[in-house]
Amino acid sequence: TPASRYEAEDAVISQGVVESDHAGFSGRGFVNTDNVAGAYVEFAITLPAPGPHPLTIRYANGTTTDRPFSLTVNGAVVQSSVPAPSTGAWTTWTSTSAVIPTVAGANTVRLTATTGAGLPNLDYVEL
Ligand code: GCU
Ligand code: CA
Repeated sequence: TPASRYEAEDAVISQGVVESDHAGFSGRGFVNTDNVAGAYVEFAITLPAPGPHPLTIRYANGTTTDRPFSLTVNGAVVQSSVPAPSTGAWTTWTSTSAVIPTVAGANTVRLTATTGAGLPNLDYVEL
């Protein structure tokens, strides 16, 4: 099955807002989280078949500092620190990927900032 896109602006956001002031995003905007550890974006993803599935995450990081995050699927930590290094500008978007375990039916995929810098600006995930 081809990947489906889940826009960050449609996800559950804790400690962040939807913005659109940096061009190059998909959909209506992107999520800008606060610069705090623990800020997260959680996607609800319904799948016809169990995983593992490749997950693509599109982000921008206009700072020079890594903005790592943890990846949690259905409440379990899958990767404790996914790097999100600088993209050079807030208008420069890139993708990183991970393979995640999933179940048939409803899944939650949560990206949580692990440093006080918060998440990079988040555009979407594809799965
Ligand atoms: C700037 C930028 C935001 C970004 C923020 C950050 O304010 O405009 O889009 O989220 O920096 O450092 O997190
Ligand atoms: Ca931010």
